[in-house]
Amino acid sequence: MIKRVFLVIVFSLAVVLSFGQPKLRPDNIEEIIKAMTDEELASLLVGAKESEFEFFEGTAAGVRSIPRLGIPATISCDGPAGLHFYPFRENTDKTFYCTAFPVGTLTASSWDTEMMEKMAAALGNEVHEYGVDMFLGPGMNIHRNPLCGRNFEYFSEDPFLSGKMAAAYVRGIQGNGVTATVKHYAANNQETNRTENDARVSKRALREIYLKNFEIAVKEGRPGALMASYNKLNGEYVQQSYDLLTTILRDEWGYEGVVLTDHGAKEGTVKAAKAGCDLMQPGNEEELERMLDAVKKGTITRDELERNARHVLHYIVSTPRFQGYKFSNDPDLKAHAELARKVAGESIVMLKNEGGTLPLKAGAKLAVYGVGSEDFVAVGIGSGHVVAKHVANMRESLTAAGFELNQDLAGYYKAYVELDHATKRVAGAMDWLMYESWGYGKKVSEPDVPLNQLPQQAAESDAAIIVISRDAGEGNDRTMVDDFELTARDRKLIRRVSDEFHAKGKKVVVILNIGGVIETASWINLADAILLPWQPGQEGAYGVADVLTGKVNPSGKLTMTFPIDALDHPSSANFPAFPQRGESEEGLRKNVDYTEYAEGIWVGYRHFATRGVKVSYPFGYGLSYTTFQYSKPVVKATSDGFTASVTVTNTGAVAGKEVVEVYVSAPSGGLEKPSRELKAFGKTKSLAPGESQTLSFSVPAYDLASFNEAASAWETAAGNYQVHFGASVEDIRASGSFTVKKVRTWEVNNVL
Ligand code: GLC
Repeated sequence: MIKRVFLVIVFSLAVVLSFGQPKLRPDNIEEIIKAMTDEELASLLVGAKESEFEFFEGTAAGVRSIPRLGIPATISCDGPAGLHFYPFRENTDKTFYCTAFPVGTLTASSWDTEMMEKMAAALGNEVHEYGVDMFLGPGMNIHRNPLCGRNFEYFSEDPFLSGKMAAAYVRGIQGNGVTATVKHYAANNQETNRTENDARVSKRALREIYLKNFEIAVKEGRPGALMASYNKLNGEYVQQSYDLLTTILRDEWGYEGVVLTDHGAKEGTVKAAKAGCDLMQPGNEEELERMLDAVKKGTITRDELERNARHVLHYIVSTPRFQGYKFSNDPDLKAHAELARKVAGESIVMLKNEGGTLPLKAGAKLAVYGVGSEDFVAVGIGSGHVVAKHVANMRESLTAAGFELNQDLAGYYKAYVELDHATKRVAGAMDWLMYESWGYGKKVSEPDVPLNQLPQQAAESDAAIIVISRDAGEGNDRTMVDDFELTARDRKLIRRVSDEFHAKGKKVVVILNIGGVIETASWINLADAILLPWQPGQEGAYGVADVLTGKVNPSGKLTMTFPIDALDHPSSANFPAFPQRGESEEGLRKNVDYTEYAEGIWVGYRHFATRGVKVSYPFGYGLSYTTFQYSKPVVKATSDGFTASVTVTNTGAVAGKEVVEVYVSAPSGGLEKPSRELKAFGKTKSLAPGESQTLSFSVPAYDLASFNEAASAWETAAGNYQVHFGASVEDIRASGSFTVKKVRTWEVNNVL
């Protein structure tokens, strides 16, 4: 009885005390801030992994609640190719599978921002219906070097294309009422020593290459969150850099969202908060202690606490959880799977198709080689991995497409993969959760397939399919040997199959199921056709089959260069995968403790096209089953930049879509500039044979500017500009020109 009375008293006291307390509403944030104690302000700025609300594996973190003021806890979860959720939970038989959409590199290869936004809208719907408030995607770092382990998550070597794709992705996600997070801001272009590496970047390369995509994404996508990267930039941790997080991001670009750290605690919690990093993630008690201690000592001011808390509270009131949304835990996974298949098919890049090899004839007999045909890689590893209920593979999709597969081969690979998985599962060769949920160690290595039946397989088949697959991901960069370069088994397979099938007048098709660029120049002569689906999501194998049958006419284009040799990239002189480290102490620190971005702006095609360095496949390259003709363009100078239009006609025999890439060559003189830079792009609808469509473009003068370090200003020089309309950066189909009468400049803060 006494206990009951005591509880009644406590409860009543709580009610009385909270009576009259303001409760958070979208329109009373200032009142709430004023009502918060210093300690409450500090607690809001340190996230809560072990928080008071239910957490499911894969959910990354959240923001602490302050019940007294009606502030709920909110949840964030990884991406970016789908929700990183573990599908099983205690006390329920219900599963929580998510859709593994195509990875960022593939979706960007569509060069279709509308489709990107549509895919992100479906992904954002899963975020919303599974009760997540903040989605940790898009990943959008520049492909500085082909061997960065996480390139699969990212879009391109070009900042303009990357920024436009990221902005479309953000709009799609946020259209569901949840928050997208652009990451990892900035110059996080390697995985080696990623939490401590100091990226040393010139002001011009920083502004034109490594910040430009984030600038476009922030201004055109309006993301509600931005994740500061782990690394240092020019000697200071990004998450502790006032220049990056406040001066550039907020004062120059007008960013209004919340800034959070990448996941892990650093000593400089207070320095980060003072620099404008609002939210420590995932957050731990030591960080909270540091923050509270700083409050006591006054090393962080109430104004600074309130400034950061204001960003966090604006985020919180925007969340479905604050708004009491009753999420269903039941998104339309079937519809999303269909969309994932369509996106994959629309984005696949056809690198080669000689002698009408593709599309294959209906019902063709196929001999399918490569373990990737069975162990098809849907998405890379790490926080970007997605646990799909089912990942389609090539055996399944080619069979469903009506092809007749050689059963000996199919059976061999199926048995091999099943044994590999069973062995890993039983032997506990790795933490199954890590394996399943994060993908580490999941990839089955290529067996030395017996080829004694090869002559018979070639005799009995119409064509050979060879799947070359690669995995890569968070925490490790790739290597030249056996990763960028073919393995001995890859090479043997391609050579032996090519010799045998070509000797019998049969065709060979190679499918590149990879997460990053590989070496191609040494073997592409052995293949009659090559498709590049990258890691195309759980339905991607069906997307590949749709292209092989001709149901989909490929329209994807490369968003990065395929070099003849990885060392042809200037960045390879300063990248961890290349053993540049001498015996010296300094040699061992290079590209680990610090990385010199000595190549400056000369990244990707900017280097290859300007300096005439031969490549295997150029930026923007991709073939179609039809052909297109470009009209003479109309190019006009405006008071602010230029406008242009060009008419594209389908001059082939089948319907298809064309990507038109608009490159601009600035007048010579003054700053050294790339011979051409991408300044606009567009994609036609599906054009029937003979059908035309006019694409129009408008490019503001600011987008033409180069960064002048001496003046700390963007500068669009006066003079004559050439405008090139291309089917790739090398394949220019039409050109025009316009004149800028007088120089235009935009000054920025002289920082970093
Ligand atoms: C990881 C990744 C980041 C991810 C976060 C949460 O280390 O760098 O992309 O969103 O931590 O898992």
